[in-house]
Amino acid sequence: MSFLPLPRSAYGLSEWGGFLPPDEPLPRLSDPYFDPWETLAANLPERLTAIDEYRRDVQQMPVLETSSLTGGGEGGVEGSDDIAEVRRAHVVLGMLSMGYVWGGGEKEPAKALPRSLAVPWTCVSRRLGLPPIVTHVDMDLWNWAKIDKDEPFTPENLKCHSHFTGSRSEEWFHLVPCAIEHAGTPLVNKTFDLATHLNQLFPNGPPSTPKPTPDTERITAEYLSCVSTTLTEMTALIRRMREGCDPREFYLKQRPFLAGFGSSEALPDGLVYEGVSTEPLKFNGASAGQSSLVQMFDVLLGVRHRDPFLAKMRQYMPADHRMFLEALEPLGEALRGIVGASGSGSGSGDHTLARRFDECLDKLAAFRSAHMGLVHTYIIQMKREQAAAEHDHDQDHHEAHHAASKAKGTGGTELIPFLKQCKEETTEAKLNHTIPHSHSLPQPHHQQHLRKDGPLLQLASSVRARSAGSLCDSSGSPVVAADTPTCVPAELVHGLAEALPEPDTGDV
Ligand code: HEM
Repeated sequence: MSFLPLPRSAYGLSEWGGFLPPDEPLPRLSDPYFDPWETLAANLPERLTAIDEYRRDVQQMPVLETSSLTGGGEGGVEGSDDIAEVRRAHVVLGMLSMGYVWGGGEKEPAKALPRSLAVPWTCVSRRLGLPPIVTHVDMDLWNWAKIDKDEPFTPENLKCHSHFTGSRSEEWFHLVPCAIEHAGTPLVNKTFDLATHLNQLFPNGPPSTPKPTPDTERITAEYLSCVSTTLTEMTALIRRMREGCDPREFYLKQRPFLAGFGSSEALPDGLVYEGVSTEPLKFNGASAGQSSLVQMFDVLLGVRHRDPFLAKMRQYMPADHRMFLEALEPLGEALRGIVGASGSGSGSGDHTLARRFDECLDKLAAFRSAHMGLVHTYIIQMKREQAAAEHDHDQDHHEAHHAASKAKGTGGTELIPFLKQCKEETTEAKLNHTIPHSHSLPQPHHQQHLRKDGPLLQLASSVRARSAGSLCDSSGSPVVAADTPTCVPAELVHGLAEALPEPDTGDV
């Protein structure tokens, strides 16, 4: 067993941008064959103002074949981006589709998506290991460009390629999380350095009782310092949301386009994807709860969530990012083991590493607090304002005010209790909260699935191999060996994409 045995690129990570793609996302698909999509996307905000006409044009659009989109390449080669076009296709089809469904307002959503969007969207989704719904990666990681290439990666120096409304408020809402993901880059890189160090230290697998060497303690301290600095930067960035995103504009105009199918009251039964499934399919809406970076902190610092929402959100991450989080688990356990053993092992009573570890958890909780402040401003207050406008009567007003506190997120959670719990679970992971009884590193038998030749890592390469292969010709059979250990929940390993019906591309 080794920690993070594959190169960054095999987990869909880039050295310069962490979870961001290795190069700036494509502004449009270069092959004129895809112009019908890109022409609609270029004018989407205007087109959505005449929704009937837009829907008619989408229905008349040809069903385009997507196998020519670049998905080849060696894969696993540091720095090579072999799926940039597939990503762009997922973004553009996603935005056209959300526009189609929600462009008539929440009262008149489309209940079926025409073949012209449903079939190619499902095809590219299967290649990326994503569901056919707009997700955090589509909106926040794969749809930006730097305005001045020589200036820093800040929200003010970024723009979005495609829009629903076209306002700067909409862009800002997506560019703040984009800058947050970028801020995670040094940590992603340092995580690979830590893995390399631990692999050298334990060439035969980690011992059950680690006795950290001074070198390991120094490297761990540096690593925790990087965790802490990254969280400080992320919190500073999330606090900048109010600078450019207008709460009313967000609530009334932007957010409706990000709603799920089957997870919102407006479309309770889900959406029929014509040419894919005659039964309506249900998917959660876009939420930065799908951020692999934020979940990375939970894995590293041992935060366990009782609500299944965040585990479910892994299905809304690209397959390679999902693999990375799974592969990171033993490193998180090792980190906790080293930090715990460092204080007691030396006999000096020096708990410096443990203190630093707990400080990181405090900073993660502070990030979550800042985020809850945004949810209050952008959702709860807006819902109350809307309720006040709709209910003149005192009693009605009071009830509406109360109902606003029970508001649901685009991901469909009862948001305030859920977010509060996420924050509490963060501080519960502190070492001074539960002084560990044993400081053990993960045992090889527990990590069988993370061996280089193990089924889980085979999945990562299998997904990439599928990207390189022909499109939508797979039988849909599971790509994970049947003996996948039960410690990895099957639904996380397979992802939603593997469960999708095979699109009918017959007469494309
Ligand atoms: C105006 C800005 C924002 C609003 C209104 C907002 C709203 C929400 C809501 C309602 C949820 C609950 C889950 C759901 O049902 O969707 C959520 C979860 C989450 N959001 Fe945001 N969000 C905002 C910005 C951000 C940003 C910039 C990030 C940074 C990556 C972020 C990261 C998360 C995470 C990680 C969760 C899962 C809960 C957790 O881990 O604590 N959000 N958000």
